[in-house]
Amino acid sequence: VSKSIAVALQKGGTGKTTTVATLAHALAMAGFNILAVDLDPQGNLALAFGLDPAPGLYRLLIDKRTPRDCMVRARPNLDLIPGDRSTARAKEQITSALRREECLMRAIKPLLGQYDFIFFDCAPSLDILNIAALVSSDWVIMPVEMSYLATVGLAQHIETLQELQDLGYHCQLKMVIPTFCDKVTRESREILGQLREHLGDLVARPIPRSVRLREAPAHYKTIWEHAPESAGALAYQDSVKRLLRGQQR
Ligand SMILES: Nc1ncnc2c1ncn2[C@@H]1O[C@H](COP(=O)(O)OP(=O)(O)OP(=O)(O)O)[C@@H](O)[C@H]1O
Ligand SMILES: [Mg+2]
Repeated sequence: VSKSIAVALQKGGTGKTTTVATLAHALAMAGFNILAVDLDPQGNLALAFGLDPAPGLYRLLIDKRTPRDCMVRARPNLDLIPGDRSTARAKEQITSALRREECLMRAIKPLLGQYDFIFFDCAPSLDILNIAALVSSDWVIMPVEMSYLATVGLAQHIETLQELQDLGYHCQLKMVIPTFCDKVTRESREILGQLREHLGDLVARPIPRSVRLREAPAHYKTIWEHAPESAGALAYQDSVKRLLRGQQR
């Protein structure tokens, strides 16, 4: 049974795309069949795999092409539905559709048996595509940068999730990944302490601020290809393990 996972946070630049590329590739290397979908007009997810942004999501949602026609193979066991600027147009055009928040769910339905995990890389907002991602997902992962504004974004997103659950959608908060952690700063330590106090075991191992993670896309590589022994890569292994708890190959 496939698990679909939205990686989302309203605040920009908190590590969403990096997290999708890193987790998706780790699971693909472990032998799982993975689909990653870019919902952000920035098209960064393709770049995180060293590929070009392309109108994959637009073709899927607006041109109603088959999912196969909209994807590229990013790595062994890993397919990508890329995005680009056309995603912004797609967003405008679906606002008039009936039950528009379910457009993504309808579009990926034929794929559900074919993948073990489907990841949605959300844009930094709470727009219709991100609501659609939450509605189509079993789990949501929120990468939270260690700043006050990111924690506000987290609280807002948890509220939205609650509202969707009240409407009968089943998406659950699977984990919060603290990102851009500086061991030395008081801000990082305080925010981490607060997250653990409020969310307990949902808080994954913190990802350090890491040049290796930042530069990997410039080498057309994920962190597992660029610097698998780096502190950032090792920290992400905890998030991978958490996703696999209770899952069977
Ligand atoms: N742990 C980290 N340490 C250092 N740099 C990082 C780390 N994680 C991500 N980065 C870099 O920070 C920038 C923002 O990360 P990323 O694109 O993953 O965030 P995002 O949440 O997807 O952003 P957006 O909200 O714009 O979609 C990128 O340049 C990325 O390479
Ligand atoms: Mg992003």
